[in-house]
Order: sequence, then C-alpha cells, then structure tokens
Amino acid sequence: MSLNDAVVYRNPVVEDAEEIVAFYNRVGGETTYLSFTENEYPLDVDMQKASIISTEQQPNSVMFLAVADNQIVGIGTITSSHKVKARHCGELGIVVTEKFQGQGIGSELIRRLLDWSKTNGITTKIQLDTRKDNSMAVELYKKFGFQIEGELKNTTLIDGQYYHLYVMGLMI
Ligand SMILES: CC(C)(COP(=O)(O)OP(=O)(O)OC[C@H]1O[C@@H](n2cnc3c(N)ncnc32)[C@H](O)[C@@H]1OP(=O)(O)O)[C@@H](O)C(=O)NCCC(=O)NCCS
Repeated sequence: MSLNDAVVYRNPVVEDAEEIVAFYNRVGGETTYLSFTENEYPLDVDMQKASIISTEQQPNSVMFLAVADNQIVGIGTITSSHKVKARHCGELGIVVTEKFQGQGIGSELIRRLLDWSKTNGITTKIQLDTRKDNSMAVELYKKFGFQIEGELKNTTLIDGQYYHLYVMGLMI
C-alpha cells in the first residue's frame, strides 16, 4: 500500500478549526517559502471556524485537508472573490508538512483543487505566487500546466536578503 492510499482527502468541518490553526502555525516555522512564519497564521480558532462555514457557502472557494492517521498533513485551498469581474479567478494555496513532502500529497491536493474548480461553474482561472527559488513548488505547478506570468522583485525579505516572486497562472 502506498502512502497516498493511507491518506484521506476531505473538506474541513468546524471541529477541524483548532487543528488547522495549529497546523498552519507549525508549518509556518518549517519552511521559509510560506508567506507567514511560525505562529504568524492570521486566523485564530474562532476566525477559522467562521472561515470554514463561509468557504462552504461560497461556490468558488474551497479547502481540502490531507489527513493521515487522523492528523492533518497537508492543506490545499482555492480562495476567490465574490466580485463579478474577479470571481472567475481562484487563488491557490498549498502546504504539506515536512515529513510527508515528496510523496505525492501536494500533487493529489492540486489535482483535487483543479477538478473541483473545473466543475463549480464559475472558476476559469487559477493563479498563485511562489518564491522564484522554490523550485519544488515551481516544478509542481508547471507539471499541472501553470505558466509563469510575471515576476515581482524583492517582495520577500528574510535576514537582510531579498527574494523574488513568480506569479503563475492556469486557464482551466
Ligand atoms: C510544495 C509542496 C506543497 C509540494 O508538496 P509535496 O507533497 O511535497 O509534492 P509532491 O510529492 O506531490 O510532488 C512533488 C513534485 O514536485 C517536483 N519536485 C519534487 N522534488 C523536486 C526537486 N528536488 N526539485 C524540483 N522539483 C521537485 C516534481 O514536479 C514532483 O512531481 P513528480 O514527483 O510527479 O515528478 C510541499 O513541498 C510544501 O508544502 N513545501 C513547503 C511550502 C510551500 O512551498 N508551499 C508552496 C508555496 S507557493
């Protein structure tokens, strides 16, 4: 049995809020590639509960959890605006905890996010930004057909060093 057979992919329920917040706060410290650092995730548990409920009600936003042994090991999201001129664009976010990286979970989350987006009747474009030097993520996105649409210079600053962001997009 491969690892991926043991991973359950599902949408969150409000009871997951505490673990989701803890997960994001922890992985923020595992990698510098996320936009937030350890314990810097912007939502608290109540806000996360509200977000789960409101996401469920939005036709063009979704969250998928990857769960192994009853623990969250990865999260993928599509976040979209309700605005008429922008609601077709979904912003993709993804993170897999260190120990579970490189085993296909990120790919499976993206596959599910894209499949879901193709059938919600609204989303026609997926976009994201990623650090230019995050070659694993850039290759992963390219594997799914994402193209580099632009580069934002010096948008991340870590210990005095500037990093550039790629803006990537995919019409679905
Ligand atoms: C990026 C991330 C989500 C990928 O998830 P993952 O479960 O590790 O990814 P997978 O195992 O499904 O896929 C790995 C893919 O990345 C690419 N990849 C893997 N190792 C690589 C390497 N050493 N160099 C370049 N690309 C690599 C390949 O395209 C690979 O697909 P393949 O196995 O079919 O060839 C995960 O590593 C992560 O959470 N990193 C930290 C947070 C982060 O960077 N998030 C994205 C911010 S934009």
